[in-house]
Amino acid sequence: MPSLQALFDEVAERYEARIIPVFAQFAANFVAWVKPQVDSRVLDLGTGTGIVPRLLVGQVQQVTGVDFAGVMLEVARGIDNRVGYVQGDAHQLPFADNSFDMVTASFGFNGTNPRRVLPEIARVLRSGGRLCFQEWGGLHWVDDVLRELFEAYGVDDDEAPAELVAWRDYLAVENMWYRDFQTEADYREDLPRYGFQKIKAREYAPVAVPNTLEGLIDYKLAWPMREMELAAMEESARGDFMDELRRRLYEQADGSGTVIYNPLIMRVQAIRR
Ligand SMILES: C[S@@+](CC[C@H](N)C(=O)[O-])C[C@H]1O[C@@H](n2cnc3c(N)ncnc32)[C@H](O)[C@@H]1O
Repeated sequence: MPSLQALFDEVAERYEARIIPVFAQFAANFVAWVKPQVDSRVLDLGTGTGIVPRLLVGQVQQVTGVDFAGVMLEVARGIDNRVGYVQGDAHQLPFADNSFDMVTASFGFNGTNPRRVLPEIARVLRSGGRLCFQEWGGLHWVDDVLRELFEAYGVDDDEAPAELVAWRDYLAVENMWYRDFQTEADYREDLPRYGFQKIKAREYAPVAVPNTLEGLIDYKLAWPMREMELAAMEESARGDFMDELRRRLYEQADGSGTVIYNPLIMRVQAIRR
């Protein structure tokens, strides 16, 4: 089975350079929405290169970032050494019971199994502590365009490298997080089973990231699965893919060539009973 951990380790440098410029805007808006309390001990799950801890440090008593991808954490440590980074799996958190006042996650859950991660969060949060996170909501039109073009220009399984086929098979299986949590109502109904109350869930588009056409393409194609798909294409197919992508995005750009990326995001807050 392909390793998500290895994939994030491999992407770490590129993640900081090409994904964080966009993700930093989601993270900043998320941190403002969280309204952290100054005396809180915060754990950020699936912290990656630490964009959320970097924004929280100095605003709270203590912030710890946890991620299973060690290379992502090495990048994070090189940026801000005031944050404590710990390598660990969200399904089996390396922390004692009741260690934190708040747990945050910014797009850190979608590769995990909620039935195993939520009990772990409930365990490490003190009673009355807060869980605040954001995950992707419904697909943005840019993602629809990309999906369509990869279907049209991607190599068939019988011509694709084994690693790419393994990833396609892995991702084709229902995603465990989104299988359980698709709507706001799913969160309100299911989180109480894991020891949470006062649940607020809202799917909306809180952030509009303006980008140049090439900037948006660079961000979108930095994700490892897309990079693998592109690398597997014949040069001429890759050229046609890029031409078509530019044409489709250009149709949506304003007069100055700016495209607005404003995806739906699911924001959830809950209190540990
Ligand atoms: C999309 S990135 C988000 C990173 C960061 N929160 C941000 O906003 O840039 C998801 C992160 O979750 C981590 N991750 C995925 N599954 C994990 C697990 N089971 N345990 C710990 N970390 C995990 C990945 O290694 C990756 O760094």
